[in-house]
Amino acid sequence: MSDAQPKSMDEIMALCKRRGFVYPASEIYGGINGFWDYGPLGAQLKKNLRDAWWRDVVMMGCDGLDGPDGEAVEIVPLDSCIIQNPKVWEASGHVGGFNDPMVDCRESKSRYRADHLMCMGKKGDKGGQIYAFIENDDASFDAALKKLSKYVKQDLAKGDIDLCPLTDLSLEELAITVGPDTKTVGTLTEPRAFNLMFKTFVGATSAQTDENAAYLRPETAQGIFIHFKNVVDTTRVSVPFGIAQTGKSFRNEVTPRNFTFRSREFEQMEIEFFCHPDDAKQWYVFWRDWRMQWWKDIGLGGENLILREHGSDELAHYAKDGAGTSDIEYRFPFTAPGYGELEGIAHRTDFDLRQHQEHSKKKMEYHDKTRGELAKNGQPKGEWYLPHVIEPSAGLDRGVLAILCEAFTPDPERASGVYMKFHPRVAPIKAAVFPLVKKDGMPELARPLFKELRARFGHLGTIEYDEKQSIGKRYARMDEAGCPFCFTIDSETLSEGTVTVRHRDTLDQERIAIGGVGDFLGEKLGV
Ligand code: GAP
Repeated sequence: MSDAQPKSMDEIMALCKRRGFVYPASEIYGGINGFWDYGPLGAQLKKNLRDAWWRDVVMMGCDGLDGPDGEAVEIVPLDSCIIQNPKVWEASGHVGGFNDPMVDCRESKSRYRADHLMCMGKKGDKGGQIYAFIENDDASFDAALKKLSKYVKQDLAKGDIDLCPLTDLSLEELAITVGPDTKTVGTLTEPRAFNLMFKTFVGATSAQTDENAAYLRPETAQGIFIHFKNVVDTTRVSVPFGIAQTGKSFRNEVTPRNFTFRSREFEQMEIEFFCHPDDAKQWYVFWRDWRMQWWKDIGLGGENLILREHGSDELAHYAKDGAGTSDIEYRFPFTAPGYGELEGIAHRTDFDLRQHQEHSKKKMEYHDKTRGELAKNGQPKGEWYLPHVIEPSAGLDRGVLAILCEAFTPDPERASGVYMKFHPRVAPIKAAVFPLVKKDGMPELARPLFKELRARFGHLGTIEYDEKQSIGKRYARMDEAGCPFCFTIDSETLSEGTVTVRHRDTLDQERIAIGGVGDFLGEKLGV
């Protein structure tokens, strides 16, 4: 299937459900909007992606790459709480500013992100009716164009209309706007700010007041900033170094949608890399390029992955002019021909450490003994400064979703009609062992091989053993699960001591010695 032809999201979601990658949360009670659970294959896929990140970032310090200073990159891990003192979120700006503009439709009761609604009116027709539709949604654009054509009694093409974001409309214009899900004029409310943080109450108290209110973290990053000094004081790290953590974050998204892409509970993989302000630019470039390469190496290479540097009009509140920010974006079937963000790489300057220093009154400055003027003894006097931060912040669930979309490969020639072309490193099932039939001594040879492979590679993912149904059906199941290699024990195994290896992507079959299967798989998995 060519890149120009998006894969069907409905088919991908159906496979995810059918094969146990992703289930709707609370499904037996009708589900809950914005929450998704991972089934056995999905949980393993997600763990493999998280483990790959953890190994390459934390344990191998950028997979052993030297930093721009020519030294090994130093990263230490952290595991901070989901609930912190609410003052953390006041300092970070989330209590005051983590808002999305929201509009409601009084008639259809639908709720929209105001910045996701586009409006169209006939060119130059000031005061004429305006139609709102959901941005990036071709179907709702066409529907709105049709409605507008009907209203002006003339077939309109794209060039005949003025387009603008709903947030640019005046109150008068909003009053003559028709919402995406209604036929009536003026049913949309004025946009209002909606804070995305989930609030809860801490402690066994009946009074749920602001005194015992707390928030579920909307990002893992702040847990890192508040421990910057602890990490410096309790370990041997020195700037430049990074702190990394993975974990759940929660955002009460106004319009969760596109499967797991925008969920209300999701997992992040974040690095806060602390460096001297003068070195921030080169570290930003280093992280941006390495993180892009990392996603390619995990199987997202090709035209579907792009690096997009932000324009100066997109800079976040913490970024000063000239501080780089870029997104690594994937062309999901629901964003095509556009792209959706997988990971952001931002030069956050010293914004967060400064905020926490001011709010907590605890000094966050770092004493760098390698810098400063030289003393009489020829040694640097040292320099105190607030480090700048480069933040590569990735979404684990979005990574899994991109990998699922990329792997989904329709193939009418196969019994399954589709196979999942996972990179062996993230594939949830690493290999399957099948006796051709459940007799003639084949299971007796297959089971010890399965146990050997599981003992050697089971820490990387599942090793499957299956003796039920025809071999064709078993291969079809493994194609849908994305298992890269199947080893089949047949009559030749009994006579010649060889097994059949079936390659998922090429469907090639070759014979190798049963005693060499472990080394064969080890080489393919790169371990
Ligand atoms: N600390 C910076 C930060 O949190 P962000 O761009 O808001 O930045 C980082 O989030 C990443 O987290 C995104 O690139 C995306 O992959 C993921 N993410 C954010 N909101 C999400 C949501 N509602 N559902 C799933 N993933 C989300």
